[in-house]
This record gives sequence, C-alpha cells and structure tokens, in this order.
Amino acid sequence: MKKIALVALVSAGFVFASTDCAMCHKANGTAAPLDNLTPAQIVQKMKEFKAGKGNPMMVNIAKGMSDEEIKKSAEKYGKK
Ligand code: HEC
Repeated sequence: MKKIALVALVSAGFVFASTDCAMCHKANGTAAPLDNLTPAQIVQKMKEFKAGKGNPMMVNIAKGMSDEEIKKSAEKYGKK
C-alpha cells in the first residue's frame, strides 16, 4: 500500500515537473529563458523535439505532452 502511494506521488511529481518549464527555463537556469521566443516558435520547436530531434531532455519532455499542453505552455512561457 505504502509503495503504491509512493509510486503515485513520484509519477504525479514527474508530470508536474515536466510541464513546469520554468524549472529549467528561467533567468540563470540551466536552459535559455523561453520568453525570447514567440508561442508559435515554441510550438514549432516542441514539435521537432516530439519528433525526436534536438536536446534529449526536451525530446523526453515533449513526448510526454499532448499538443494541447504544448500550446498552453507556449502561451504561458512565450514572448508576451
Ligand atoms: C529538466 C529541464 C528542462 C525542463 C523542465 C524544460 N526544458 Fe526546455 N530545454 C532544456 C534544455 C537543457 C534545453 C537545451 C538548451 C537550451 O536551449 O538552452 C532546452 C531547450 C528548449 C527549447 C529550445 C530553445 C531554443 O532557443 O532553441 C524550447 C523551445 C524548450 N526547451 C521549451 C520547453 C518547454 C515549453 C518546457 C515546458 C513544457 C520546457 N522546455 C521544460 C531543459 C528543460
């Protein structure tokens, strides 16, 4: 029982982490800030990552996201 709860927590954490782009994409973060790109450019990049091109970390993240989730985060983190 305990083990199941732990697995649920860890996977929920991962889903949260993977759509929390700011975790890595912030000023002084490990990756470039996303507000240099327009939402359309981010969506385009995410499509390439989803197709397996580019940074392996991003390929993993993009593959775990639906097109709808990608669109939402692009609007949230892209150039305003
Ligand atoms: C675990 C860390 C991490 C998370 C979380 C993360 N990224 Fe990234 N991302 C990277 C790294 C590393 C790169 C490649 C280096 C770079 O471009 O700075 C990258 C590159 C990118 C690029 C290409 C930037 C460019 O100028 O070519 C885009 C777009 C991008 N990420 C979007 C996202 C979006 C959208 C999210 C949230 C859904 C996200 N990332 C979450 C680490 C992360």
